[in-house]
Amino acid sequence: MLPNIKHILWLYCLSSSSLSIIRPVTGSLSGKVNLPCFFSITQNSPPVVTVTSPNGTAVYSRDYLRIKWTKLVGEVEFTVLVAQNGVIKVGSSYRNRVSVPSHPEDVGDASLTVVKLRASDAGTYRCEVIYGIGDTQDTVNLDVSGVVFHYRANTSRYTLNYDKAVQTCQNIGATIATYDQLKAAYEDGFDQCDAGWIADKTVRYPITKPRKGCYGDLHTKPGVRSYGIRKLTETYDVYCYVDKLDGEVFYAPVTHKMTFEEASEECKKTNAVLASPGQLHAAWRHGLDKCDYGWLSDGSVRHPVAVPRMQCGGGLLGVRTMYRYRNQTGFPEPTKKLGAYCFKEKHPKCT
Ligand SMILES: *[C@@H]1O[C@H](CO)[C@@H](O)[C@H](O)[C@H]1NC(C)=O
Ligand SMILES: *[C@@H]1O[C@H](CO)[C@@H](O)[C@H](O)[C@H]1NC(C)=O
Ligand SMILES: *[C@@H]1O[C@H](CO)[C@@H](O)[C@H](O)[C@H]1NC(C)=O
Repeated sequence: MLPNIKHILWLYCLSSSSLSIIRPVTGSLSGKVNLPCFFSITQNSPPVVTVTSPNGTAVYSRDYLRIKWTKLVGEVEFTVLVAQNGVIKVGSSYRNRVSVPSHPEDVGDASLTVVKLRASDAGTYRCEVIYGIGDTQDTVNLDVSGVVFHYRANTSRYTLNYDKAVQTCQNIGATIATYDQLKAAYEDGFDQCDAGWIADKTVRYPITKPRKGCYGDLHTKPGVRSYGIRKLTETYDVYCYVDKLDGEVFYAPVTHKMTFEEASEECKKTNAVLASPGQLHAAWRHGLDKCDYGWLSDGSVRHPVAVPRMQCGGGLLGVRTMYRYRNQTGFPEPTKKLGAYCFKEKHPKCT
């Protein structure tokens, strides 16, 4: 009997690094990851499979190799990629975004490369390799960090020139989003009918549900609208990007409501500070869910909805913003009594 290939792989992983099989693979929005999957090619010459056509002629004969990657969602398996005899099939939401090595049998490597990562790519993946008579299966978890969000300055709509837009994202714990990040966020369903600067000096906005007033250059088609490259002195809102959160965001555990100043003091009592909008978005992406509005470091007021509920944010997901005026401009008066979102840096941890 041939030794169990899965067993060999397990030992191999343990001896090289016992953490590599436990830790999920992590990637950033619009980035690239490699989901590892190795199979043995060292067993005594795998049998050659001869495939014959109906008329009895040998069409080809070669080592039989089939690589199948699926995504597991509950009980359901979605096909990501199937490679067999040089023919590759790819699931529709992975089109042009996934690949495996071109000669897996030379290196025993069936790892899946995923590019233009979306938040919705996060989850559990399984690879199954049939090579000769060997059969290898492995699962790997993927985490995707990063959020793109729209930001409007405290004064009014469309007040930021390009330099101010870049600076504003930095001031709120983020960076100005790239086109690839905005595109990936759009693919995940981001819809915002407000023109904002992005890093390449174009002005754009993502629309998944085309509607009057938001058609832009794509008319009735969904997609990321573009005003093209603009003069740097023109003023718009901005799209910012925040990656991983290096700490914890929490709603100040007090029952009374606070002014902006009081909120800031309350966070300091626990060695924390008011969270920035970037930090709140990153925490939301990690699952922070709270139906109460709270002050943030920039004087804005927001709350995160990670679980859709009608009575909280109208069933929509995302970070909700409280504006001063009905036309969605201006931050609330600093004397308004509200909650607070605090941020505490992560303490260095022993590993
Ligand atoms: C048998 O079928 C294969 C492909 O199915 C074809 O290439 C080949 O010419 C056929 N041979 C004969 C003798 O018909
Ligand atoms: C808006 O924010 C800036 C700092 O970003 C601050 O200097 C200014 O006072 C604020 N204006 C209003 C109307 O709150
Ligand atoms: C929004 O409404 C406020 C108050 O009604 C008004 O002063 C402001 O000019 C409006 N801003 C925009 C961009 O329409």
